[in-house]
Amino acid sequence: MAAETKRERARSSIRTLRAEDAHAVTEILREAREAVFWPESSVKEALGWQGALALATEASGRLRGFLIGRQAGDEAEILNLAVEMKTRRRGEGGVLLKAAVNEFRARGVSRVFLEVRESNEAGVAFYGKHGFSKVGRREGYYQDPEEAALVMEKKFAG
Ligand SMILES: CC(C)(COP(=O)(O)OP(=O)(O)OC[C@H]1O[C@@H](n2cnc3c(N)ncnc32)[C@H](O)[C@@H]1OP(=O)(O)O)[C@@H](O)C(=O)NCCC(=O)NCCS
Repeated sequence: MAAETKRERARSSIRTLRAEDAHAVTEILREAREAVFWPESSVKEALGWQGALALATEASGRLRGFLIGRQAGDEAEILNLAVEMKTRRRGEGGVLLKAAVNEFRARGVSRVFLEVRESNEAGVAFYGKHGFSKVGRREGYYQDPEEAALVMEKKFAG
């Protein structure tokens, strides 16, 4: 039991998200109601998109969180990001977002943006802490339940 607890708290590492992680991604998304649910096929498809960036944090062989984004020209979008419920608020999301922002910046992107449910206070606070600001609102953007999206962006100087 003690060993189990220790393993649960093991430091996670970050790596590229792979097709064989798709099932674990759907398990994380099932308990992340604020995010948009993607079935395994969509996760696998996204990995092959031009400009895709897909990252995972993992500890003790278990996926703890993932991020999927995409670069198009000098802009990039965070398309989906979630951390398993029991590991939230321990910095996993921050590790993923910082790595994605750094990678997009290294690719020459000048702006990273995303949509987030208006009611997702944790998500909005999370992105705000990472330097994203609200720049717009899209009425009826989400389904099940229908809700507006806030558009948030982070711009790179120069
Ligand atoms: C948003 C999410 C990815 C954040 O991941 P996380 O690993 O829990 O985040 P971190 O531990 O790195 O949190 C960093 C900061 O984000 C903010 N934050 C995170 N969760 C929060 C919460 N529940 N309430 C308020 N602020 C929160 C805080 O500023 C926090 O810093 P602090 O702990 O020093 O106060 C995670 O909550 C999640 O998976 N949510 C469901 C899916 C989702 O909303 N995805 C984003 C929209 S697609």
